[in-house]
Amino acid sequence: MKPIFAYTALASSLLFTAAVNASDRKDDYIKTLTGLGYPAPEANELVHIPPTMEDLEQSDMHPELKRVIRRGHDLFTNTQQLRGENVFNNMNCSSCHLGEGRIPFSAPVWPAAVTLPGFRGKNDHVNNLEERIAGCFTYSMNGKPPAYGSDNMLALSAYHQWLAKGVEVYPEKPIYGRGFPAPERPEELSYARGEQLFSDKCSVCHGEDGQGLRVAGQTVFPAPWGDQSNNWGAGIVRINTAAGFIKNNMPLGQPLSLSDQEAWDIAYYMDSQERPQDPRYTGDIKETLEKYGPTFHKRSRYGQVRETDGKVLGDHANTGEKDFLKPDTVRPRTFE
Ligand code: HEC
Ligand code: HEC
Repeated sequence: MKPIFAYTALASSLLFTAAVNASDRKDDYIKTLTGLGYPAPEANELVHIPPTMEDLEQSDMHPELKRVIRRGHDLFTNTQQLRGENVFNNMNCSSCHLGEGRIPFSAPVWPAAVTLPGFRGKNDHVNNLEERIAGCFTYSMNGKPPAYGSDNMLALSAYHQWLAKGVEVYPEKPIYGRGFPAPERPEELSYARGEQLFSDKCSVCHGEDGQGLRVAGQTVFPAPWGDQSNNWGAGIVRINTAAGFIKNNMPLGQPLSLSDQEAWDIAYYMDSQERPQDPRYTGDIKETLEKYGPTFHKRSRYGQVRETDGKVLGDHANTGEKDFLKPDTVRPRTFE
């Protein structure tokens, strides 16, 4: 069984490829997005329409390469098949990268294939595509990345790279719709308002307790917090990133329906809930904050006191379903 909301309304309209030539297709694509309320691209921005699985079938690529890309797509949209080995929560890659990782404002994944190897402040060294994918396994999937060079890692990389088909490597232009761009941060954020909004607009799918819904071993609605969610080291625990995700993508099928204030209040509430420990935890929350505050946790609520119950967020040794803190594939590189 596939997740019942595998495609949002947006994704399915963007998968529609009726226009005959490339420039008409691009115009239609931008019209669909602006019609939904997304900003039009700036004159200097790079707009790329990633190919669809249908395009793959119709292409004249080698059948074996097609098979591997199909496998990468299958792993991306049903990452639960790696449960217990590489994935230790209820997420699929497509739980956050909607529309199979191809749609703008939902952190389309193809930019990584054309901008890496590149320097990442998060781990302070030059990363390649495999290591970037490994990052989402480590934090967002609360897991252990497949080994570099393994069949599954190669299949996932191939899927990312194929989505980038035709884009120049190391583009000069900024990429339209990359990441989860945050709306402007309002003056004040309210836990109480966020809680109420979550209950009104989100809990119908994600549950009052943020546990989501799983049926027959498949994730129908992922868990925004708790043991089955991403851990404290995942990008989406930064309130700005969560606000950007929510504003542009949720409630599912109604993107951009929340005000900026609402998106930020919900993000603040959601990111004030417990989840598995950050794999970079040193055993001491103050020390961990000193190390990773400047580059990461200054935008999260990790180590802060929750106003409703005085709890210090993230001050625990709970690693969720996995029995290790840090996967052994996460290590510094020095090139020496
Ligand atoms: C819990 C949400 C979540 C899940 C699940 C998730 N990611 Fe991500 N991913 C993010 C966030 C947040 C970013 C950073 C976006 C930004 O920079 O604003 C990101 C970024 C990326 C990027 C870089 C995109 C770029 O613009 O360079 C890649 C590649 C990626 N993820 C791949 C994956 C893969 C593969 C999986 C599954 C193994 C996965 N992600 C699962 C949240 C998630
Ligand atoms: C109609 C059901 C539905 C509603 C309502 C809904 N979501 Fe979601 N949400 C989903 C689904 C389904 C996914 C995963 C996308 C996929 O698998 O295609 C998701 C993904 C997410 C994610 C990323 C994965 C995770 O669990 O952390 C977050 C965060 C999230 N939603 C927050 C919200 C918030 C906040 C609201 C309310 C403003 C909301 N959602 C309303 C169905 C819904």
